[in-house]
Amino acid sequence: MLNRRKLLVAGGAAVGGALILPKGLKNPSASATGLGPIGDPHGHQFYGSTARPHVKGAAFSVPMPVPRVLTPFKGDPDVDFYRVPIRPANVEILPGVQSPLLTFDGGLVGPTIKARTGRPVSVTFTNQLSEAANVHLHGGHVLPQDDGHPMDVIAPGASRSYSYPNTQQGATLWYHDHSHHTEARHVYHGLHGFYLIEDPAEQSLGLPSGQYDVPIMLRDVLIDETGNLVDGAEPDQVNTLLANGKPQPYFQVAARKYRFRLLNSAIHRQFNLNLGGVQMLQIATDGGLLPAPVPRTEIELTAAERVEIVVDFSRFPVGTQIVMNDTIGPVLRFDVVRTALDTSRVPSTLRPLPALPPATVTRDIRLSFDVSGPVPVGLVNGKPYDPTRVDIQIKRGTTEIWNVTNADPIEFDAAHNFHMHLVQFRVLSRDGGPPTVNDMGRKDTVSLPPTKSVQLQATFGDYLGRYAYHCHFLEHSALGMMGQMEIVA
Ligand code: C2O
Ligand code: CU
Ligand code: CU
Repeated sequence: MLNRRKLLVAGGAAVGGALILPKGLKNPSASATGLGPIGDPHGHQFYGSTARPHVKGAAFSVPMPVPRVLTPFKGDPDVDFYRVPIRPANVEILPGVQSPLLTFDGGLVGPTIKARTGRPVSVTFTNQLSEAANVHLHGGHVLPQDDGHPMDVIAPGASRSYSYPNTQQGATLWYHDHSHHTEARHVYHGLHGFYLIEDPAEQSLGLPSGQYDVPIMLRDVLIDETGNLVDGAEPDQVNTLLANGKPQPYFQVAARKYRFRLLNSAIHRQFNLNLGGVQMLQIATDGGLLPAPVPRTEIELTAAERVEIVVDFSRFPVGTQIVMNDTIGPVLRFDVVRTALDTSRVPSTLRPLPALPPATVTRDIRLSFDVSGPVPVGLVNGKPYDPTRVDIQIKRGTTEIWNVTNADPIEFDAAHNFHMHLVQFRVLSRDGGPPTVNDMGRKDTVSLPPTKSVQLQATFGDYLGRYAYHCHFLEHSALGMMGQMEIVA
């Protein structure tokens, strides 16, 4: 087991460049010896850089686009058929600079797929990259062959159709690459998009809709002078904040209510969002609507989490500017530019949560890093991911409690989070106490700060087969911090 002494020994070696800690981990020996930041062979620093938002050009100089909604290519009474190429593209992220990306159909944010509960969708992805890729529907209740298993990839030049039954309730999902060891680089380079499920009960609530229902993908990036995305930089350095693919944009709004679907698609960064004290009325989380709206002034969003908020701009005169801030700086500015009729409402009751069936199995899941070798290895319960190994067998239809712990030593200062495929779960408790406001509702991804733990309850439905669970800091899962469960009859 890793202990502080061993780290100190390893840290001594690091001065010579031998120890590579996972990105973002603090080296305890450095501060203990006053050596300061330790460089790695690529010239990055392990810690000590001051997080500062980095923007070429002034903030709020470009408008925030809304990702386009994909149109089915074939009219079919029972299924919506879509086609999406996976292809390289040069995209302007920073003004006047072309960045080579890996994209779903040409944009840093892929096209939005809108689905309806009860109506299946089939998406044919054609891989026009020179390397294998695949697609996972994050938050989707889908068969294993449609889940984007890390080893189940689309070869270069090949096509693959994924079937999404949409038997679940309305929710903000997203699709992204999940290819083994390359998921972090692929997602960082642009393989992500929204997948929104709407259902009739939700539509009847009268929430802001149409142009007043806006998905916003938040992430970060580091772009060099030539426009290339810098891979593998220290998280602190990756500090150009993007909203729907644009750096610190502005978004013109009417003085009325809007629904914003916020997704953190970064591979590492946690966003801590506020509107400078302006209320954000949270209506939904990963798995869809909350039982009731919850007023928030600050929202934490770890990688892959979603939060839906309603912001009422009718209280502000035309000309008002409201900035959405993260800890390191502004993310986005809302400019109130006109008045508009508003017949939308936010009912005080949204959707009750389903009752929790009694759990029959309890498991312990521990996420950690092994830094004893030349390259850090991500572990779940002491083992790196092996796609051929089943770590957990679960009986179909049963309910389980998982105690999930960030088992890294406090000195690493290593945050993780935890995501399960196939199901949404509920957070029963956090660090032995009640869940936080960030844990409310039907979740599929939760934060796990250093040494912390969460207790989750999930009910496994009718699909048999193998699915992943992992830290959704994709650099960590790419290093092995992932396990495999098999649902059996
Ligand atoms: Cu966002 Cu394994 O997934
Ligand atoms: Cu997922
Ligand atoms: Cu992690």
